Amino acid sequence: MKDLLGLPSSAGFALVTGCQMAHATCLAAARHSLLAKRGLDVERQGLFGAPRIRLLSSSQRHGAFERAVRLLGLGRNQIQDLPVDEQDSLIPEALEQALEADPQAPAIVFLQAGDINTGAYDNFQTLIPIAKRFGAWVHVDGAFGLWAAASPRYKHFVEGVGAADSWATDGHKWLNVPFDCGYAIIADSRAHKAAISHRAVYLKHDAEARDQIDWNPEWSRRARGFPTYAALRQLGRTGVAAFVERCCEFARALVLGIGSLPGVQVVREPGINQGLLRFPDPGPAPSAADHDAYTEAVIGRIVAGGEAFFGPTTWRGIRCMRVSVCNWQTSRQDVQRAIEAVKSALG
Ligand SMILES: Cc1ncc(COP(=O)(O)O)c(C=O)c1O
Repeated sequence: MKDLLGLPSSAGFALVTGCQMAHATCLAAARHSLLAKRGLDVERQGLFGAPRIRLLSSSQRHGAFERAVRLLGLGRNQIQDLPVDEQDSLIPEALEQALEADPQAPAIVFLQAGDINTGAYDNFQTLIPIAKRFGAWVHVDGAFGLWAAASPRYKHFVEGVGAADSWATDGHKWLNVPFDCGYAIIADSRAHKAAISHRAVYLKHDAEARDQIDWNPEWSRRARGFPTYAALRQLGRTGVAAFVERCCEFARALVLGIGSLPGVQVVREPGINQGLLRFPDPGPAPSAADHDAYTEAVIGRIVAGGEAFFGPTTWRGIRCMRVSVCNWQTSRQDVQRAIEAVKSALG
């Protein structure tokens, strides 16, 4: 899987419950590494007497990062939101300036591979070298978007991502294995092990075999590796690539197909498998709030129709309908049916 995703083969990994716990695992390793370099043993003494760890991230990040920050005692208030460009990618100059403001401070830079609303990617090739110049730890949220690496057609989005320090992704998203299957991948496996490892008198530990308690935050867990292995084995490289590409193609067909109906505004065409639409209020002199309410109402009608499911979201302050395709069973016919469902809800 590391090979498929373009990540270093020597990286440590843990099979966790989802991307949320992958963030917590990766950031525990980051916390260990950044503080160990400053002579502190965070596993023993906690954060007492430790310097503040700066957390730099684009304003478009997923909320799971913040929860991991809270769980690790790093403090939500330490997160500094940095601006994004028109494509929703973190602006490199903004990152550089933020790091320059306190160049000696330990810092974690949080980047995105696949924004939840637009599928946007940060520019890893530019941003990671900047972060590295300041000794920052780079963590990537690739919950679904990291899987673009498997596709020759879409892997340009993740160019350079292998130079980060840690990556969080999911099997229960774009690999379609059952829920409760995420992956934490950490380049410095020693930092990973130091942050997580544990010994117990009633458990047998083998010096040779991989012991999950050294890598996983859970004490007990099911065999998450099994469905992952089965899915990868069954699909193979070309199967994963074809699946990723099919989802992207269908998301585009949905957004453009629905977008061509009267009364629909295309807010964001999909770069990968996520796009945004909006239903402007056709009434007289509508306000922004009217457009939001009308969009919500149309989404409600589509969902009530029982034929297609789309969820609402807020992007840059406006309510939109989120188009996301990530199921292997979705067919071209389903795309047509979904477009028809929206048409009749609008009608
Ligand atoms: C970009 C992103 N990051 C993190 C998460 C959290 O993932 P999980 O639900 O697997 O913990 C999600 C879930 O939707 C996501 O889309």
